[in-house]
Amino acid sequence: MKALILAAGKGTRLRPLTNTVPKHLLPVGNKPILFHVLDYIKEAGIKDIGIVVSPDSGPYIEEAIGAGSEWGAKITFVVQPEPLGLAHAVKVAQGFLGNSPFLMFLGDNLIQEGVKDFLDEFHASNSDASILLKEVPDPRAFGVAELDSSGRVVHLVEKPKKPKSNLAIIGVYLFTAEIHKAIAQTKPSWRGELEITDAIQKLLELGKEIRSHLLRGWWLDIGSNDGLIEANRVVLDAFSKRDIKGEVDSQSRIVGRVQIGEGTKLESSLVQGPVFIAANCRIKNSLIKPFTNIGAGTVVEDSSLEHSVILENCQILKIKHLADSVIGRNTILAGQGKSPEKIRLFIGDDCKVELE
Ligand code: TTP
Repeated sequence: MKALILAAGKGTRLRPLTNTVPKHLLPVGNKPILFHVLDYIKEAGIKDIGIVVSPDSGPYIEEAIGAGSEWGAKITFVVQPEPLGLAHAVKVAQGFLGNSPFLMFLGDNLIQEGVKDFLDEFHASNSDASILLKEVPDPRAFGVAELDSSGRVVHLVEKPKKPKSNLAIIGVYLFTAEIHKAIAQTKPSWRGELEITDAIQKLLELGKEIRSHLLRGWWLDIGSNDGLIEANRVVLDAFSKRDIKGEVDSQSRIVGRVQIGEGTKLESSLVQGPVFIAANCRIKNSLIKPFTNIGAGTVVEDSSLEHSVILENCQILKIKHLADSVIGRNTILAGQGKSPEKIRLFIGDDCKVELE
């Protein structure tokens, strides 16, 4: 069994951040999105992992993951020259996949319960594919599956106007090598992409059995700004622990599940968890409220932050109430400590913002 993580794509909905950081390396909770995905795969016991990257993001992702020793895995990077669709990514990775069955995981999707049960069911069946499904209130924005009474997939439709079920296809799939034959017979869709939904529909038409597994817990698709903030909230809520490695002075107080990295100094500040503060930060005269994630080397002074993702090496000075925001690396935000109104920002790397 191999695993294939799809981490090419343009990440347009997360610009300007993704102009300089690949989406998959943005942090959610205490680590990059892609590291969470690798953790699921490690948990499932798969040790031969391919990561599909774009020519731009590839070098950054390779540097961050290295040889994969953290996950006890052999990692192969496959470059997809252009993001021509999920099935196109599989086609490009065919040399890595060979005839092996594989787990395919979109590198920007997180799920609560991991993939072990999903894999066990697949191994126990004779199916050529299995898809992970999630009940959603309005399935019209998704690929939608229709099942028979035993859970076999009978039909798939991409973004139907009148969905016949509320079961959305999410970004985790299992395939045997039969999928390559189906992809070879699939044509690009109206948007010019080779769609995996069309390829799975083709498998059905070729008479292959496709199973499904219903996800009970949460599913996060981190495509947009709000998606990133929401994913950070859910992951901090689910997984954060109290772990204080930095220095906390006697004027400071920490409430609840707060992680503070080595070398970080907390002076005259209040931190209310769940919060993650990475290494070598300095937090002074400030209030850090729940669901905030602060990257390494960041300085926060005379400010209040809430429900936000702040990347590395930022300076946040005299900002009264920053909330629901995403701030790129090396960015300076300087206020006058006046405006008590909530400020909401979404800004990229290396910016300087002065507020009156
Ligand atoms: P999307 O979120 O559909 O696309 P994107 O990442 O380019 O983002 P945006 O829509 O904001 O421009 O992609 C889902 C995942 O699949 C993501 O991890 C990138 C990956 N992907 C590929 O690896 N190759 C592809 O050809 C496409 C379309 C996506």
